[in-house]
Amino acid sequence: MTPLLHQLYPELAHTLPHLSLNTGATPVRRLASIDTTGAELWVKDDSGFGDGGWGGNKVRKLEWLLPDALRQGRRTIVTVGGLGTNWGLAAALYGRAQGLETVLALVDQPMDEHVREQLERLRASGAELHFTHTKVRTILRAPLILARHFSGMRPPYLLPAGGSSPVGTLGYVEAALEIAAQVRGGEMPEPAYIVTAVGSGGTVAGLSLGLRLAGLSTRVIGVIVNDTLRLDESTLTRLADRAADVLRRRGARLPENLSAGGNLDTVTDWLGPGYGETTPEASAALRLSAEYESLDLEPVYTAKAMAALLDLNAHGRFDGGPVLFLNTNGPR
Ligand SMILES: Cc1ncc(COP(=O)(O)O)c(C=O)c1O
Repeated sequence: MTPLLHQLYPELAHTLPHLSLNTGATPVRRLASIDTTGAELWVKDDSGFGDGGWGGNKVRKLEWLLPDALRQGRRTIVTVGGLGTNWGLAAALYGRAQGLETVLALVDQPMDEHVREQLERLRASGAELHFTHTKVRTILRAPLILARHFSGMRPPYLLPAGGSSPVGTLGYVEAALEIAAQVRGGEMPEPAYIVTAVGSGGTVAGLSLGLRLAGLSTRVIGVIVNDTLRLDESTLTRLADRAADVLRRRGARLPENLSAGGNLDTVTDWLGPGYGETTPEASAALRLSAEYESLDLEPVYTAKAMAALLDLNAHGRFDGGPVLFLNTNGPR
């Protein structure tokens, strides 16, 4: 399937490879029961990739990252995450299928049943694990880990937490183009707002850029759920700009006056005590989503994003809407 980015900028077809890991657009539907007051609510469910594999937002990033690594002749991906990293597991499993080895530096995060199970999956994934515990120790160990994984003269393919490099961010540029196509096709109204979680920033930065490229005036509201990375609006805007630079460098003729990031706001009130710590609001949002909408959320990212959406809606923050909740939780 030709990605929408290649359809919009055919000049990218030979300079920016894409690997299709899913089968087309993820579904959108009305959320008619969870909150019947305020703005009209919709969901785009990225857990709904149709190939029986993983959903969630990592797959979209890997569709651009894996072929970029292969194009550069890299053999190993080196990246970082918490002990329960969804990103690290997806990189390990999808990378292995493409013949790439994955090396993970893991920093501590609050331990619970979900994290414990995730760690077991990481051990079973074949990835090389380094328990570096803290950010500082990860930075100190990084040169050694990188040096060990050179393949001839080629360094490993180094990726930031969450796969939120400028190339990874293109996954959500593509998602924004998909949303625009679904609006044009009459599957849903043009959203006034998209609400989603911010863990490392690639998702909202990509949406912000992609909505601009698609000509939609939708605003993105990023719900910050991670206090271990710098994720303010200017940092996220810079990531969107760097993703636009990748497209330009590879030959796409983007509009000059793009102002990516101007359509992006962040909210920080739903983080609670910290990254990975549950909040009563998130627990309630998780339960209500399952009960009223059969929507499966998880406590670290998506339940906090839904808690923010419900609260902002109750306070009339969305005017008339419509509001699109982007569910980035993937089935495991
Ligand atoms: C389920 C889930 N939702 C949302 C996010 C946040 O996305 P991003 O890292 O692109 O900000 C992540 C990972 O960080 C995630 O695992």
